[in-house]
Amino acid sequence: MLNDIKEILYSEEEIQSKIEELGKQISVDYEGKNPLVICVLKGAFIFMGDLVKRISVPLETDFMAVSSYGQSTKSSGVVKIIKDLDATVENRDVLIVEDIIDSGLTLSYLIDILKRRNATSVKIVTLFDKPVRRTVELVPDYSGFELPDSFVVGYGLDYAEQYRNLPFIGVLKEEVYSS
Ligand code: XMP
Ligand code: MG
Repeated sequence: MLNDIKEILYSEEEIQSKIEELGKQISVDYEGKNPLVICVLKGAFIFMGDLVKRISVPLETDFMAVSSYGQSTKSSGVVKIIKDLDATVENRDVLIVEDIIDSGLTLSYLIDILKRRNATSVKIVTLFDKPVRRTVELVPDYSGFELPDSFVVGYGLDYAEQYRNLPFIGVLKEEVYSS
């Protein structure tokens, strides 16, 4: 598995200390509130677990799975809800936890849905961001690292469902895609 990685972009230690920072800031901003923290499956599941441990205000967690139609590495903009929330978001302060923002299409669709369900507020925390790839205007409220325009794996992110368990984020060797 490690042999398939061309380059490590951020180590386990760098990721964990960034999450600690994000958690502190979120704890300050949500003081006195009881946010509903929503994990966007599957990619964000590891980040979600590490992040909520660093948030000191009371909160609820919920999980949602979405997929864009089509199966390329590019988002089509049409998003299908695979698993919806258990919780109602009406009158809740919602914090969406994402692994990575690319075009921004998935998240702008999600934000739209949650606002239509009358959430009090909807904010986004993403661990990774590829701002150069954006096709819709979307700026995360909290962001860990900006990444270059290359396909990354690890720390929850996959290629063909593999590599999610790597504790760091890295770039795959080209030969892995072409084999
Ligand atoms: P959009 O384009 O809607 O896409 O912002 C966001 C979703 O695309 C996936 N994505 C990636 N997954 N490595 C991955 O494993 C990547 O480099 C990558 N870039 C985008 C991801 O599921 C994210 O939620
Ligand atoms: Mg994926």
